[in-house]
Amino acid sequence: MSRRTSPRAVALGFGFVGLLTAAFLLWSGAEGNATQGPVTINGTTVSPVPTLSAERVAAGEGLYAQSCAACHGAALEGAPNWKVRLANGSLPPPPHDATGHTWHHADEQLLSIVVQGGDPAYNGVMPGFAASLTIEQMTATLDFIKSRWGSREREYQWWITVTRRGQP
Ligand code: HEC
Repeated sequence: MSRRTSPRAVALGFGFVGLLTAAFLLWSGAEGNATQGPVTINGTTVSPVPTLSAERVAAGEGLYAQSCAACHGAALEGAPNWKVRLANGSLPPPPHDATGHTWHHADEQLLSIVVQGGDPAYNGVMPGFAASLTIEQMTATLDFIKSRWGSREREYQWWITVTRRGQP
């Protein structure tokens, strides 16, 4: 038996490393921005951030393009100067990416904004979608928005959702 490493063994070795790399890339792609392990903020620990369903995110992407992009931007970027009130006292549509504050709100609150639209008490001008989208479609749209956040935003939004429900 030769002690020299045969070219075949070298090729096999590279093949194996290649396979591992591919497996890792697949795994990390599937995980997306989901994070590892329980989330602890302010000393309160909640369960790990759930992984989003790729199917629901894809459905939500289409719904977002149809129902939300005209105001909130195709790339979730919001209106320019979205923090500055307009002459009529309303606010321009905010971004839904990590630069906005959508991720500061718990699931229930986000859903109720989409169902009811903007609060007239605050000169809100966003329309409610209760008549045009099902709750399932609204949730899918919100899942698409979540899929565009980084792990920090997802962890915070998950944490606030769970702690608001009172079950860390
Ligand atoms: C006609 C423009 C318009 C459309 C269409 C629209 N929005 Fe809005 N949205 C706004 C505006 C303006 C605000 C700021 C509050 C207000 O004025 O009502 C807002 C606020 C929000 C907020 C609160 C964000 C925060 O940080 O507090 C969420 C969540 C939201 N929209 C989601 C959606 C989703 C999801 C859709 C599509 C199903 C959608 N919006 C469609 C204009 C719109």
